[in-house]
Amino acid sequence: MSELVTLKTYLGTWAGADAGRTAVAQAVTAIAEAGVGIADLVARGPLEEGLASIRGVDPNAGGDAQKELDVVAEERIKAALLPTPTAFLASEESEELIPLNPEGRLVIAVDPLDGSSNIDTNVSVGTIYSILPYDPAVHTDPVSAVMRPGVNQVASGFLAYGPATILVATFGEGTQVFVHDRQTGEFVLARTNVEIPAETKEYGVNQSNVRHWAEPMSTYIADCLAGKDGPRGKDFNMRWVGSMVADAFRIFTRGGVYVYPGDKRKGYENGRLRLIYEANPVAFLTEQAKGAATDGKTRILDIEPHHIHQRIPLVFGSKAEVEKIASYY
Ligand code: AHG
Ligand code: MN
Ligand code: MN
Ligand code: MN
Repeated sequence: MSELVTLKTYLGTWAGADAGRTAVAQAVTAIAEAGVGIADLVARGPLEEGLASIRGVDPNAGGDAQKELDVVAEERIKAALLPTPTAFLASEESEELIPLNPEGRLVIAVDPLDGSSNIDTNVSVGTIYSILPYDPAVHTDPVSAVMRPGVNQVASGFLAYGPATILVATFGEGTQVFVHDRQTGEFVLARTNVEIPAETKEYGVNQSNVRHWAEPMSTYIADCLAGKDGPRGKDFNMRWVGSMVADAFRIFTRGGVYVYPGDKRKGYENGRLRLIYEANPVAFLTEQAKGAATDGKTRILDIEPHHIHQRIPLVFGSKAEVEKIASYY
């Protein structure tokens, strides 16, 4: 039986003596370790809320205001990255770039808690990260280190806090899946060079928004709903968790597509997902797993950002299905 490969071993082999790779390895190790703590916090949520309501006390009674878990997660990740060579952190929960280590040569964009509307329903949530190189001589305005097309990423990944705490990570050499072993405290390599099946019969979308979508997307979904007697000639299944990390892990496990289109509602013209710390990292992982990721028609990783928190329509997963969707535009 082959030896278990831990995240530490995997990163040691990948980084070797290369200083840049070692910096990335340190940052990912820090995020993974912070993630284990965040998973514990998420798991305690329903207990603390429940006990507070049983005792008839406001859960905020613990002195400091009951912080949103999103913000607590950001604080945990920031603290974990401080000792690493990370110069700045861009986060969904902070308007501006957060300076960390002036000597750092990385910039990291993070969704500290993805799927946070699900926390009190005990549904899987997670953390998404994107890592880009930072060169103070080139990026005189540090924001420019983040505001680049996603092809510039050197690593990306997400943690999902579910029955298992898992890490899906790429370092540019395929997409790997690590599972946290609660006995040893280690992340153990569970799947190497994941491949998302090119074809699928499963899509994920929030169907309640169908009346707001542009025609190509509503026609695509209608064709899936028409099943085997319709234009697609096959029946489809639908899955929508409401946490992208959970939907993404299903897609990395058995294929499928995740669809969050732009729609006609004010503020949702570009959908709900953010380009820099949701779409880009997941698009990098997806392409490394032989899948595809677009805004419906354009490759996500080629999109030139114009704002750190900009939203982007997002379609990712099984390559042939993503290409099929693009054919509707
Ligand atoms: P976040 O919790 O970080 O704001 O992200 C939530 C995102 C994504 O995780 C999920 O797939 C999507 O929002 C769900 O959107 P709807 O609630 O509109 O379905
Ligand atoms: Mn999110
Ligand atoms: Mn979030
Ligand atoms: Mn949010």
